[in-house]
Amino acid sequence: MTPGLSRNGLHLLAPHQLQADFPILSRQVNGKRLAYLDSGASTQRPRAVIDAVVHYETQLHSNVHRGVHTLSQLATDAYEGARERARRFLNAASTREIIFLRGTTEAINLVAQSWGRGRLGNGHVGPDDEIIVSALEHHANLVPWQLLAEERGARLRVIPIDDHGQIRFEAFQALLNERTRLVAITHVSNALGTVVPLKRVIDAAHHAGVPVLVDGAQAVAHTPVDVRALGCDFYCFSGHKLYGPTGIGVLYGREALLADMPVWQGGGDMIRTVSYERSTWNDLPYKFEAGTPNISGAIGLAAAMDYLEQLGIEKVAHHEHELLDAATAALMRIPGVHIHGTAAHKAAILSFTLKGVHPHDLGTVLDHEGVAIRAGHHCAMPLMDLLGLPATARASFGCYNTLADVEQLEAAVRKAVEVFH
Ligand code: ALA
Repeated sequence: MTPGLSRNGLHLLAPHQLQADFPILSRQVNGKRLAYLDSGASTQRPRAVIDAVVHYETQLHSNVHRGVHTLSQLATDAYEGARERARRFLNAASTREIIFLRGTTEAINLVAQSWGRGRLGNGHVGPDDEIIVSALEHHANLVPWQLLAEERGARLRVIPIDDHGQIRFEAFQALLNERTRLVAITHVSNALGTVVPLKRVIDAAHHAGVPVLVDGAQAVAHTPVDVRALGCDFYCFSGHKLYGPTGIGVLYGREALLADMPVWQGGGDMIRTVSYERSTWNDLPYKFEAGTPNISGAIGLAAAMDYLEQLGIEKVAHHEHELLDAATAALMRIPGVHIHGTAAHKAAILSFTLKGVHPHDLGTVLDHEGVAIRAGHHCAMPLMDLLGLPATARASFGCYNTLADVEQLEAAVRKAVEVFH
């Protein structure tokens, strides 16, 4: 056992209380204790988030920004309070820079379709223009740019990675040129766990006059994010990877960029005036929030931010790193296991394969042992091709994981070795 690390959880926090905060963790799966090691796909929700949603649904629900009646005003206050909470979470300058959307995927599509079709000098991707992505990208930060590039006659350039799964920084610098319109890059690789040196990337891009969009889906639950300190132009993430509900996420955009971007989806709330001839647009952030938003989702997300910040994101990250180190060492002791992604700076993700066993079969055996992991291409097919793999098995950690989960993972992988060999 790692010295100083409690078998039951965060040694810097109250371990039993933390486990008890997540009702689902007390259930069994396939008659076994649940070792939930799939937080990279979706985190579980603490009672505080569930309670905030139930309170909203039972006490406050009505539509926002529309009614003069009490419930509508209460719902509007709660929804706009969640926006202010998200602003503080990212240290954005203004709530005008915080747009609520379905999640990271929708946020990137908004930027690709609005900013990408914007006017010259602010977006507007044209023929022969280039968009830089990295070899680590999730499909969500790849396909929207492919669609835009195809429509506009532009092209994608891909930052290569080294054998450890780290971006090659010099190659990135060499890709920046006068045709580069945007760098769209992940903060943390969902498939390999690599933490990208974001500040260096942003500084280099800005030095070349190029804005940067960051896919923060795998980062926000594991590292404090300060968009002003980073200096990024867009940053997006999903609530359900941050102990919040599904169907809600945030796009942060610098106000100067957002203000100049064309509207995206049309409908209620995003307009100021409408006639049969033409419409005019609402102020930021509402001009990008057409239709009734996910009000309860936003309120649940705000509660999740409160929860995580009360734990302390840095303490959580420290705990997850100890688990990652312990799990890496445990799996490396098993003959036939290969770890994919050995970057010097990794977040709470451990991708691995077992020689001669398809990751899906491995995942199925682990599931019988109560261990929930993800097996597949992790929505990163080009990266899997690059690694010469059809898929990997991936264990990912959250604040609630413990060394007991790591031990259960190790025992389950040993069981798979017995079953298949
Ligand atoms: N993007 C999520 C993952 O990596 C679904 O599992």
